[in-house]
Parts: sequence; C-alpha cells; structure tokens
Amino acid sequence: MQIVRQLGPLREALGVIRKTKRKLGLVPTMGALHAGHMHLVETAMAQCDGVVASIFVNPTQFGEGEDLDAYPRQETADAALLEGAGVDLVWTPTVDQVYPDGFATNVSVTGVSAGLCGGSRPGHFDGVATVVAKLFNQIRPDAAFFGEKDYQQLAVIRRMARDLDFTHDIVGVPTVRDADGLALSSRNAYLTPEQRGQAVALPDTMRDAAKSIAKGGDIASILDEAQAKLLASGFHNVDYFELRNAETLENMTVFAKPARLLAAAHIGSTRLIDNIAVA
Ligand code: PAF
Repeated sequence: MQIVRQLGPLREALGVIRKTKRKLGLVPTMGALHAGHMHLVETAMAQCDGVVASIFVNPTQFGEGEDLDAYPRQETADAALLEGAGVDLVWTPTVDQVYPDGFATNVSVTGVSAGLCGGSRPGHFDGVATVVAKLFNQIRPDAAFFGEKDYQQLAVIRRMARDLDFTHDIVGVPTVRDADGLALSSRNAYLTPEQRGQAVALPDTMRDAAKSIAKGGDIASILDEAQAKLLASGFHNVDYFELRNAETLENMTVFAKPARLLAAAHIGSTRLIDNIAVA
C-alpha cells in the first residue's frame, strides 16, 4: 500500500493503479479511523477493483472555536488498518496540496445545507463541498463512499456532484453502531466513561421518537419531548432534533415517507450527531 502526500506522486501512482484496476473507489476520511470508516472501506472493496482512502483533516470545515487542533490524529494506526483491509493507496496530502497559496475558490451548496448542522456550524458545508470536489478531481474515482451517519453531508455531496457534473457513483453506507446503539464517531473518543454511558440516550430517544411519529403521534410534541428527555439524560444542549424529508431535507410537519429524524446535541464539550429513518 502506498502512502502519498504530494500531487505529482499521486498522479503517477493513480496511473499505475488504473492500468490493472477498472473500477476505482474513493473513501474520503479525516483519519482517526474506527469500525464505521472500516465498514466504508469494506463496502468500497466489495464494489470496486481498487480503493483509495484519503486522510485529510480539512481546516476549512471547522469553525472558530471548534476542535480542529484537538481533532484526533493517528496516522500510523490508520495506515495499518487501511493496509490490513487491502487498500491500494492512501492519499494524505499536506494542506498546501489541497489549498495552494492564493486559493480563492469556494463550493457552496444551498438548499440541503440549510439548517440542521448547516445552521449550527456556519460555513461547515462549504468547507466539506470544496474539499470533496477537490478530492474528486484529484482521484477521479468511479465511486465514492460516505457514511449515512453524516446524513446532511451526504445530501450536500450528492447535490454538489449532480450540479457540478461529477458522474461517478456516490454511495451512502449505513451507520455502524456500538452494541448499545451509539453511532460510531471519531468524537466518541472525547467522552468520559460517564458521558459515554449517558450518550446512549441519543439513539434511544431517536428510536422512541421515530416509533411515535410513525404511529401518527403529534410531531411537534414528540420532538419537544425528545429534546427534554435528552436534557434530562446528561446532554446539556440540543442543537436540533428535527423531522425532515429524507431526500430533500425539507422540514416535515405532517409525516410522509421518506422521512428522517436528525439530531445534534452536546454532552460535555462533545457534539454528537445521529439520524434514523422513520418508517
Ligand atoms: O466525513 C468526513 O470525514 C469529512 O467531512 C470528509 C467527507 C472526509 C470531508 O473532509
């Protein structure tokens, strides 16, 4: 497995890989890999002939006061996991390879990026769309794999790919969860053991709310009660707990399929997000 940090060697390495691998998959990551990422890699390996994983902690998607500096970095361990999984190449560019001197371009997706994480993290999805567009151009994959855990991000990337004529597949991969239901996330590493115990209230509350909505309960009261339950369970702030159309991400006040519950809440200094289908 090659680990490449500069664009010149990347192009050479991709040229060699392309000679023998017909369908190339890309798994973009910010590192600190866990079983959720490895599930993306396994899915890519199963659907493609060759797989490139990128590791880049993208500064433009972190807002002021967010955890850019503290974001977990563990390149040696990540590389070992990716090599074990059979990845062909790891693209872990230096910042100047992604944002060269004088970089002045911004990819901004409206609509699906409004509200939810787009509301509580202004500029976040511009940073995501810009870096993902760059990764698509740098790697030119036939398919790119993203976790449904970041559901709004996936919607933003799908919209961006359609709008900018990226023709490769965008594959959404279901969320991997711990045995108690907490969605795997690099940020779970920040939780103290006590907070980790409390964090399970997030998937539990979402599951209960989804069941009540599907049974025809009053949506506004269910969402209010869910937020109150989170606050009573150790979360100190709920950024959002909302029901949206699963495709357009438009707000939903009357239940109709496809529907998705999406939530973000803070426990200690950690912000957790999750989403589930309401069926
Ligand atoms: O989901 C992530 O890890 C990041 O947002 C991504 C897609 C790699 C872009 O930096």
